[in-house]
Parts: sequence; C-alpha cells; structure tokens
Amino acid sequence: MNHHLLAIVAVAALTSCDTPKPVVRELPPREHYVALARDFQDFRSWGSLDLGERPAQGETHDEGNLRAFVNALPPPGSTQFPVGTIIVKENLAQRPRSSEEPRKHFAMVKRGANFNALGARGWEWFELVEGPRGVAINWRGLGAPDGEGYGGDPLGTCNSCHQMAAGNDFVLSEALTLR
Ligand code: HEC
Repeated sequence: MNHHLLAIVAVAALTSCDTPKPVVRELPPREHYVALARDFQDFRSWGSLDLGERPAQGETHDEGNLRAFVNALPPPGSTQFPVGTIIVKENLAQRPRSSEEPRKHFAMVKRGANFNALGARGWEWFELVEGPRGVAINWRGLGAPDGEGYGGDPLGTCNSCHQMAAGNDFVLSEALTLR
C-alpha cells in the first residue's frame, strides 16, 4: 500500500466511529417472511446508515442520534423494500450504564403477503431487547400491544405515523429514501 492510500485509510478510520454501510443486494424472491428471534442476532454486522440527530417523534421515539441497521438495501430503481427486508433503529442516546443492561430497539420487517394490509402494507412492527445473551423479541405485530406507553401515543400509532411515508414504502428516514 502506498503512503497516499494509507493516509486516506487512516483518515477514514478516524472520522467514522460508525459501522460500515449496509450492503446493496437483491434478496431472494419470497411470498412472505416471518422473522424469528434468530434473524436479528447478527444485526450489528449488517452495517448501518446514520440518521443524524433527530427530535423526539411523539411519545414513541425519543430524541437522539439515530442509526438504522439494514440487512439489505434494495438496488437503485426499486420502488419497494423487498420481502425479507429488516430495519433495526438504534438510538445512540440510549446509553447503557453497563454492558449487562438490556437495550430496546424498534424494528420493522417486510413480511409480505397481505400482512398489515390496512396499515404500513406488508410490514410487521417489532420491539427488540438486546442483552448480554443476544436479541429477543419483546413484541411484534400490527403495532404496540395494549399497555405499552407508545401504544397510546396521541400523535399516532406505528402505522399512522409511518403512513405519512406511503410513497417510500412506509419508511420515513431521509437516509432510507428509495431512489
Ligand atoms: C409520532 C410519529 C411516529 C410514531 C408513532 C412511530 N414512528 Fe417510527 N419513525 C418516525 C419517524 C419520523 C422516523 C424517521 C427517523 C426519525 O426522524 O426519528 C421513524 C423511524 C422508524 C424506524 C426506522 C425506519 C424508518 O422508517 O425510517 C423504525 C424501525 C420505526 N420508526 C419503528 C416504529 C415502530 C415499531 C413504531 C410503533 C411502536 C413507530 N415507529 C411509531 C415516526 C414515528
């Protein structure tokens, strides 16, 4: 490696405390995809997109520096995220006091078929808990279950807020705009 290259690599390493970008790849064609806990275990190895410092969204999403891990980004020209797409949102402001302390992340998975036909069509909503022994599914479905504070968010449900991005397959982040 010449010195020029070395310098570029060194600068890149210094300026990005982030994970690499998610890969752009075509997922195998599927009719439906029912995610299991094991499908989330290695989400930190997928690469992520920086969503920037964001204000709170209702009572559901806290403010903070966000990033989205994605198992596969659709190729350019796609108008939808294919069945099998998994997006995990991490809020970096949610700093654990210890490595033992579980952390919660919202996620969405393109389940396909006719799932959630009246909401964010095809998507299933999740809350994940990441602890020292891996990632578990806290809840999943058409929205937060009764009793979860954000289920009663006066500004809306998972579906109602994300329906504002119906033209982008219900994914709201600028960094995840389909092009
Ligand atoms: C008050 C509006 C609102 C509600 C309610 C809401 N979201 Fe979001 N969500 C957003 C916005 C806006 C973004 C884009 C990132 C940001 O600005 O915070 C987002 C981003 C996300 C992302 C990253 C992918 C994307 O669309 O950008 C996931 C995953 C997500 N939300 C899951 C959920 C889940 C699960 C629920 C229900 C428990 C939910 N959201 C409810 C507004 C909302």
